[in-house]
Amino acid sequence: MKKIFHVFVLGTILIFGSCNKNNNINKSSGNSEISSKVDSVLVLMTLKEKIGQLVQYNGSWDLTGPPSDVDSQEKFKKLKYGEVGSMLNVLTVKATREAQKAVMEHSRMKIPLIFGYDVIHGYKTIFPVPLGESASWDLELMRKTAEIAAIETSASGVHWTFSPMLDISRDARWGRIMEGSGEDTYLTSQIGVAKVRGYQGNDLSSKYTIAACAKHFAGYGFGEAGRDYNTVNIGEHELHNVILPPFKAVADAGVATFMNSFNEIDGIPATGSKILQRDLLKGAWNWDGFVVSDWGSINEMITHGYARDSKHAAELAINAGSDMDMESYAYESNLESLVSEGKVDIATIDDAVKRVLTIKFRLGLFDDPYKYCDEEREKNEIYTKINLEVARDIARKSIVLLKNENNVLPLKKDGKGIAVIGPLADDKDTPLGNWRAQGMANSAVSFLEGIEAALKQKIPFQKGVELSIGKRSFLEPMTFNTTDRSGIPAAVELAKKSEVVLMVVGEDAFQSGEGRSQTNIGLAGLQHELIEEVYKVNQNIVLVLMNGRPLDISWYAERIPTILETWHLGSEAGNAIADVIFGDYNPSGKLPVSFPYSVGQEPLYYNQKNTGRPSNPVHVTYSHYNDAPKTALFPFGYGLSYTSFEYSKLKLSNDSFSGEESITVSVEVRNTGKVAGEEVIQLYIRDLVGSITRPIKELKGFEKVYFKAGESKIISFTIDNKTIEFYTANKKWEAEAGNFKVFVGGNSVDLIEKDFLFKN
Ligand code: NOJ
Repeated sequence: MKKIFHVFVLGTILIFGSCNKNNNINKSSGNSEISSKVDSVLVLMTLKEKIGQLVQYNGSWDLTGPPSDVDSQEKFKKLKYGEVGSMLNVLTVKATREAQKAVMEHSRMKIPLIFGYDVIHGYKTIFPVPLGESASWDLELMRKTAEIAAIETSASGVHWTFSPMLDISRDARWGRIMEGSGEDTYLTSQIGVAKVRGYQGNDLSSKYTIAACAKHFAGYGFGEAGRDYNTVNIGEHELHNVILPPFKAVADAGVATFMNSFNEIDGIPATGSKILQRDLLKGAWNWDGFVVSDWGSINEMITHGYARDSKHAAELAINAGSDMDMESYAYESNLESLVSEGKVDIATIDDAVKRVLTIKFRLGLFDDPYKYCDEEREKNEIYTKINLEVARDIARKSIVLLKNENNVLPLKKDGKGIAVIGPLADDKDTPLGNWRAQGMANSAVSFLEGIEAALKQKIPFQKGVELSIGKRSFLEPMTFNTTDRSGIPAAVELAKKSEVVLMVVGEDAFQSGEGRSQTNIGLAGLQHELIEEVYKVNQNIVLVLMNGRPLDISWYAERIPTILETWHLGSEAGNAIADVIFGDYNPSGKLPVSFPYSVGQEPLYYNQKNTGRPSNPVHVTYSHYNDAPKTALFPFGYGLSYTSFEYSKLKLSNDSFSGEESITVSVEVRNTGKVAGEEVIQLYIRDLVGSITRPIKELKGFEKVYFKAGESKIISFTIDNKTIEFYTANKKWEAEAGNFKVFVGGNSVDLIEKDFLFKN
């Protein structure tokens, strides 16, 4: 008894002391120090309080899921009893302070809440949607945009973003492809690490950094037929070689949290997957953060047919390693009885609680639970001019020039003969894309505004058609205009008397994103009809696409001379596109995802397997389509510039290596044009024979390099056993001896190559 009392007093001093701003706890305390602090808190907690730390409540309604049936007053009471560890969608200094006060002033243990929010591509200053931003291949700038997002998020009271999304997706039908970095494992890993560094910085306890969350663990981007939340069936090798590496990379980089996923893989919902969460992530990878479930995904295991009821779902989820319950109410209702019935070990609960407390300590919340509650910061650090300048820079770097026949672009800055047509040209909302956090409706610089600002004059504009009709929002189904053609004649008249038509079409902001799968990836509504009519009278069109997924643009690619892929570029979209159109910025973006000839090719990706029948010039009995090519219309890694680059003198320092040795690949790249520009130099390898079959090529390195007109540079990459290793038939990551090819070039198709041997 005496001993227990002693521990309690010590622990109480520690907690109460640490909640005082002026105490002398070292904020950059190391892991073991934090671990003993966590232990000293844990020992004081009742089971109910421990379970409370594993409960996350939504703080607002209808933002990211169906309305909950527990009303906010009831929730507030639970905060006061210390029965909630985290809230999502509670924003602003005022609201977060109010909720935090409920805990700090009323609960027995006074363990601060951690507030989470989907800050996916900026908080209020909106950057390009992640798929678009990935087209920049500019890791430092992508780190920077995450850093800015963290500053704005923390200035509004929030500690934690549910980003980056690391789901590899090869399927343009899947609406959430806009939220990831595309189809490639290596590129996604590099971007994931850059994002985590940007959000978390070097010091999670700084008031300018926030915790990141790697999601969705795992396989969510591989839903059958591109249908959201759908079943995933992938083999173990595919899982390890394609889907898991980005997660491993950010776990190694110290990402604070993971989120599991809605889908099942091979019959087991990811939320209940012990193999993924307990054995791999927390076991083999030795990662020490906590896993939050996806929204309601614990209870969805009942609907999956994996759990009998909510109690069973809670048992499966906690035992599998899902530490925090986002909005299933399964933990708060069932964990206590599951422990008393011996179905969940108290050590399992303790482990989950320790993980949550560890992140709260690392964030410095025990030092100061109100550390992000600073009205001055909220007033001064959000949506600043400097942040918007970065938004413009990343936006223009994310634009991909897909076609530029006869060098239509860049246009002269005199504005003569230019017409702007299309439903998205004057749209100030669509460029913000989906998942725009606190981006204000209609706050983006529209295309038309950007063009007119650059030219300092009004430009003739006709919308032609509306794209969508009715209400647009995160949850609302979209309705497209398929009947009102009344604006087309005026658009055609304008096109007739113009020299060049800037035609701005694509997807509505809410057309891609969660729950936005499509079987058709052409231009929706009457957009195609409008283009056809305009094309009949004026073929000199610059097609400006705004979209969150690859589209089927084969009709346009065949006919229209100039195509610019601008994604949903964020707050500064119009200015950024104008920078490219008038040549103030030479486009340098490269596709992070393949653009198909037809939706029928999906899922489509560059790093396919060869199959046993890749070609046969005579008969039909080989792997292909009879009505379309099997390759991409615009492949992964592709993007043009206003200059051109020539690759030559590919050299290897040695044509073989073994063990821990490495070889250097070098290539001369020359800017052969008349203007300066940036090029993304890409390195791919092919492993010719493996213990499991290997892709026809795989990205293994890249560098974005600036070249003055006429300048040439030697670019080098290192290849070692890490470059060539993969998850082999031995169920291990290994480099297998054998012959390889190395390819270098400016996209995944136009490459020069050499052979090398790895001797083991
Ligand atoms: C569901 C989404 O799948 C997830 O990515 C998001 O973070 C949560 N909702 C919370 O909004």
